[in-house]
Order: sequence, then C-alpha cells, then structure tokens
Amino acid sequence: MIYLDHNATTPVDPRVLEAMLPYLKSFYGNASGLYKLGRLSRTAVDTARHQIAELVGVAASQVIFTSGGTEANNLALTSLEPAAGLAVSAIEHPSILEPAERLHRQGHPLSILGVDSDGLIRQDTLDEIIRAEKPALVSLMLANNETGVIQDIARHAEPLRSQNILLHTDAVQAAGKIPVDFKALGVQMLSLSSHKLYGPKGAGALIFEKGARLSPLLLGGGQEQNYRSGTENVAAIVGFGKAAELAKAELAQRSERLAGLKIQLEAGLRSISGLCIFSENAPRLPNTVQFGLPDVDGEMLLMKLDRHGIAVSSGSACASGGKEPSYVLTAMGIDPALARSAIRISLGSSNTPEQITRFIEILKTLVSQEG
Ligand SMILES: Cc1ncc(COP(=O)(O)O)c(C=O)c1O
Repeated sequence: MIYLDHNATTPVDPRVLEAMLPYLKSFYGNASGLYKLGRLSRTAVDTARHQIAELVGVAASQVIFTSGGTEANNLALTSLEPAAGLAVSAIEHPSILEPAERLHRQGHPLSILGVDSDGLIRQDTLDEIIRAEKPALVSLMLANNETGVIQDIARHAEPLRSQNILLHTDAVQAAGKIPVDFKALGVQMLSLSSHKLYGPKGAGALIFEKGARLSPLLLGGGQEQNYRSGTENVAAIVGFGKAAELAKAELAQRSERLAGLKIQLEAGLRSISGLCIFSENAPRLPNTVQFGLPDVDGEMLLMKLDRHGIAVSSGSACASGGKEPSYVLTAMGIDPALARSAIRISLGSSNTPEQITRFIEILKTLVSQEG
C-alpha cells in the first residue's frame, strides 16, 4: 500500500509503541493512586507533560491533556465570557466551526473571517472585524488540514494582544511538521493532537497561558488542574509525549525529507495537463499538496486509486463522504466543479521517492482514462 493521507492520521512510530507497552501490560495503575503502581503512572504522565511542553516551548503546568484535538479546540472556546463575541476563520476545522456555531445560537456574536484565493487570512479583514465587532476571542488555525496553508499567526496576534483579545490557534496539523513556539506565535491557547505526529489516537492537549479562564467540559475527579476530569489515558499520554519528543528532535530532518518528496510530487503533478495545485503560492506545510483536475470527480478518482492500493483524501478526511465541495476551497473562491475534483496528498515518514513515482504513473493512467 502507498499511504498518502498523513494529515488524516499517522501510523504509530515503533519507538512510541515501545514506550507505551509497559503502561498497557504491567503499569496499569490509576495515576491518582497513592501507592507505587499509581505513582509510576503519575510520573509517566508528568514526563509526557514535560515532553509536550518542550515541543511548543512552555512550562509543563501549561499543558492540559485531552482526548485529542477536537476536545482541545472545544475546550479553548469555553474561555469565552457570557455573551462575549467570537471570531473564527472560515477554513477552521469543524471542531472549531461547530462549537462556534453553537455558541452563536446561545447568543454570542460570531464573525467568520474570509480568506483570499490562496487560503490566507488577510490582516485587513481581521483589523476590520476587530474594529467593527470587538470580539473577546479569536481562533485562527496555524496550518490548514486540506491545503496545508500556514497562517502568519504571530503577525495576526499583534493587534489582538494590544486590545486584550484572546487568540487561540489550532496547531494540530502544524506540530511535528514546522516549528511551533507558543510564545513566538503570541497566542494564549494552542491545540495539539497526538495521532497527527506518529502518536496514538485519543490523546491531545490544550496549551494555555496561565490565568486564562477556561470552563471545563468534563466535571468529576478534578484531574488536569480541574480543567479536564477523568482518569488519565496513561498509555496514550505516554505515547503522545514520546511522539512529541521525537518530533522535536527530528523536526529538521523530517521536514527536509518531506520537502524533497513534495518537490518530486509537485513536479510530477505539474506534468499532468490542466492540473491545478491549490494555494500554490502560499506558505504551506512541507507534506501537503491539494490539487484539482477539471472534469474529474475527486471521490471517484479516490476510489480508483484505492483499487491500486493508494490511500489519499478528497479533502478533509473528517468531513469527507459527501458530495459537497470542500468548504475550505469554497471559502477560497475555487470554482465548485474544480473543488469537487480535489485530491489531497499528505506525505509522511513511510513515503519514498519510488512511491511518488508510482503514484504519479498510476494517476496519469487513471486521468487519461477519464478523458
Ligand atoms: C486542523 C485540525 N484540527 C483538529 C483536528 C481534530 O483532531 P483529533 O482527530 O485529534 O480530534 C483535526 C483532525 O483532522 C485537524 O486536522
């Protein structure tokens, strides 16, 4: 199989699995237990907390473990004071857009920031929303899961900070692929997910600036400084920590490798007549390429590629399955017919130059059959 869908999820790194196994086999203690078995789990969770903190340059006490990126995003939005306004970009992941819509239905003013044809949030659009709507909280993703476009969060943060507007960034797709530094970004909250960086599914974190007023989604035993009750998923947290440690240590070599593969991939794609690479001129993640082919049905192409053992996505994995064109491409003003043809390739550790060559060969054959 040629797996080209690493933005949907990544395989667990064998070193991560190795680190997790003792906590699945022998060290099963509840991290709240005061006896040795419990203390072993507590120490493991604390180590992971430090590893995550190191990845994004914060103190360990600023890390709240969650069940994943979705929960971290939902938790971030609880920082909104009653009736206060919220602004989010049109291309956020559904785990921001859906809770934002619910908050709106509950009476919070909601502004949706458009993007330009490259998928970038424009500073003047943000300035206008700050001036006209005065939101209390803004949520802008660092890197988009479909196009891979990287936003200039540090730049957008400046006017927000000077007006005491909270800024959250969804860094789920960025972490492990580009440097993510909480302070340099100038945000007050940041979401991470383990399974996007070769850790296990079902673990994530919200990083928060001390003093941020979050309202827990889950109430109970008071774990995670009262921000997230529930017995810690120790093995998954240990795996997330190990994955974060490896991502930090290997970031430069990983992104260099991916960038090389991406150059090869894009050169191959450009040799297909009529093919259009979305957001081609915007800063993008080193692993992500989304393209469209006029008169091609993206879902059909995906299925044909699958029959050749190639796994790709026709847009956002979490939102795919419908015939609606991707809302991200729609927000960029891409023609709906072209948007319906979209295929996303997201490269990762297992991919080789030979696989890219093979993928391009098969894609060319399939596209020529369409014509
Ligand atoms: C940008 C982005 N944010 C959040 C999420 C949700 O993360 P999780 O799958 O850990 O809930 C995803 C998953 O695809 C994502 O791509």
